[in-house]
Amino acid sequence: MSARKIIIDTDPGQDDAVAILLALASPEEIDVLGITAVAGNVPLALTSKNARIVCELAGKPETKVFEGCDRPMGRELVTAEHVHGKTGLNGPVLPDPVMTVEAQHAVDFIIDTLRAHDAGTVTLCPLGPLTNIGTAFEKAPDVVEKVQEIILMGGAYFEVGNITPAAEFNIYVDPQAADIVFKSGVPIVVMPLDVTHKALVTPSRNDAFRNIGTKVGTAVAEMTDFFERFDKEKYGSDGAPLHDPCVTAYLIQPSLFSGRHINVEIEATSELTMGMTVADWWRVTDRKPNALFVGDLNSDGFFSLLTERLSRL
Ligand code: RIB
Ligand code: CA
Repeated sequence: MSARKIIIDTDPGQDDAVAILLALASPEEIDVLGITAVAGNVPLALTSKNARIVCELAGKPETKVFEGCDRPMGRELVTAEHVHGKTGLNGPVLPDPVMTVEAQHAVDFIIDTLRAHDAGTVTLCPLGPLTNIGTAFEKAPDVVEKVQEIILMGGAYFEVGNITPAAEFNIYVDPQAADIVFKSGVPIVVMPLDVTHKALVTPSRNDAFRNIGTKVGTAVAEMTDFFERFDKEKYGSDGAPLHDPCVTAYLIQPSLFSGRHINVEIEATSELTMGMTVADWWRVTDRKPNALFVGDLNSDGFFSLLTERLSRL
């Protein structure tokens, strides 16, 4: 089977970095057409820089990285340095990138790429706020029907919020963009906190990363050493949740994951519940299902796949 053509939209972020590394380590399954940076965990200049740092860490400096939106569609930017550190990639000491960012705006790259490919052949993989995707759909409605699938990290139901009592960070930062995406009609796979909080980097799993014995394995272990302190302190969990790599792992081995095809709508009005993913998990409404909402994964299988693939870089 030929590799799946994807665009990774991202706000690195240590977990974004691992998701990108996994994708770049898996050319048989994944053809990364480009990486589009968006403001999220840290401001755009840093997410763009971090995306390039990760591409060079992977030994793939030829990867095309584009800069997108530096603020949400209709709200002030909220960032997460308290989780990811001031640079957004705290933990390992990695060299500044040599590779440059592409001249084209990320939103135009997304639009042009979808127009240039046959319908149903390009998958969008957002790992941060949905600003670039929502802006592309608003600017060029003709491209919406060309998208094969959107596989995104965001939202929560049973796990409720991680940035407010009601909302997960990616959706909270740009609820207007998320509303556009979830109402677009594009087939969506959602990796919410409900599943990503089961992808915990326990000490033995992080040792496995470190024991790969390469600069990639060591860097990932050092990212986790930094990234885990927030969740361990807040949730008392046994390690950092690897949110974003659930997206790229799904592309490689979907059987690791399970969920329900349900209706998911976005709170984009009330400040109290702004950015909440209102997931009809129990199907108590007649709202049309619009997303595969993933609730579980085979975590040992996930980490086995991730460790093996990282060892290839
Ligand atoms: O809530 C977790 C999500 O927010 C992850 O994508 C993390 O990288 C941040 O963007
Ligand atoms: Ca992210």
